[in-house]
Amino acid sequence: MIRANDNYSKLKASYLFSDIAKRVDDYQKKNSGTQIIRLGIGDVTKALVPAVIKGFHDGVDEMASDATFRGYGPEQGYAFLRDKIAKNDFQDRGADISADEIFVSDGAKCDTGNFQELFATDIRVAIPDPVYPAYLDTNVMAGRTGEFADGRYTGMVYMDCLKENNFLPNLPDEEVDLIYLCFPNNPTGSTATRADLKGWVDYAKKHKALILFDAAYEAFVRDENLPRTIYEIEGAKEVAVEFRSFSKAAGFTGTRCGFTVVPKDCRVFNSVGEKTSLHSLWNRRHTTKFNGVSYPVQKAAEAVYSEAGKVQVKQQIDAYLKNADIIRKTIDSLGFDYVGGNNSPYIWVDGKDRDSWDFFDLLLTKAGVVCTPGAGFGRCGQNYIRISAFNTLENVMSAMDRIKEALK
Ligand code: MLT
Repeated sequence: MIRANDNYSKLKASYLFSDIAKRVDDYQKKNSGTQIIRLGIGDVTKALVPAVIKGFHDGVDEMASDATFRGYGPEQGYAFLRDKIAKNDFQDRGADISADEIFVSDGAKCDTGNFQELFATDIRVAIPDPVYPAYLDTNVMAGRTGEFADGRYTGMVYMDCLKENNFLPNLPDEEVDLIYLCFPNNPTGSTATRADLKGWVDYAKKHKALILFDAAYEAFVRDENLPRTIYEIEGAKEVAVEFRSFSKAAGFTGTRCGFTVVPKDCRVFNSVGEKTSLHSLWNRRHTTKFNGVSYPVQKAAEAVYSEAGKVQVKQQIDAYLKNADIIRKTIDSLGFDYVGGNNSPYIWVDGKDRDSWDFFDLLLTKAGVVCTPGAGFGRCGQNYIRISAFNTLENVMSAMDRIKEALK
């Protein structure tokens, strides 16, 4: 008899963003006259920049001739891309990461979800609350939790991110083995300083733990005092894996490309406590289960690092940050507290005592604006909503006018 993985029955029926998409579609069907403005899922709206399109076209053209055609590429990514990532994203920032420590993939969601496969099922996992749901759900699927009760899974260590701690997780009181961190944060938009990250690196060293650091929103950091990679922190190479994405940084949500940095110094321990290379484990997993990102997509990603590409993607992110500024100012003028939106595309709004799904419904039905209910990211997200800056300037301005009217 074929039997299902029972852990799946512990999950909520559908993934947060699929659930929201369905609610919005149902509403739209019944209200076909409403022009809905989507500030929910963090999906980019601007076209790929010209330098990236040229790289993409060049890659496609090469596939059209026998002389330059490519079949399977290296699973870890082509050297032309890994070299540029290592230089631009790390070495130029003083972080000693080499090209062979970079694994190119089809995006950070898959990598952050899949990485937990490398670890024993009985490790202690610490996860922020609120949190990007893929980290938690994949640990549930793997059997690292008990049942869901009172908005939480038993067996998981939750790190509350609240106004009182500036939405930054505190170091856990109990000993944990695997720690998920995300900065600039999704969903709150909060950022961490070098001193904050040093605290985590020190914790991981002391407790022989590992940090999974999601830096998918790093390109939105404009404050020069903030770290752009965890490897700016001394010793992080032994205790941290970093995930990056071209999705938000260069508009690749539909194109799919990201990468994971697994330093060769990074260690994990086997069942008798001996150090093992995490790089070798991930390499084994990656080469077994993944056949590489398509050649034209890697050529497109390479173009992000060209002189023109750098200027063009920066302008694109500046435009989203300008939207974020407009959202922050509106939220402020309406008298709500918020965090995020200055080094991040997300604004995390305190709805005071409003239930976050009720707030979501109110904005959808009264303003025709989609946001993300904070409770979908965890218990600490109750009474909050997340507004995303990924849309056109016109739509963001119009959404803010509608929200002002709806909340008058
Ligand atoms: C989000 O809205 O949180 C993200 O866009 C979802 C994702 O990147 O998968």
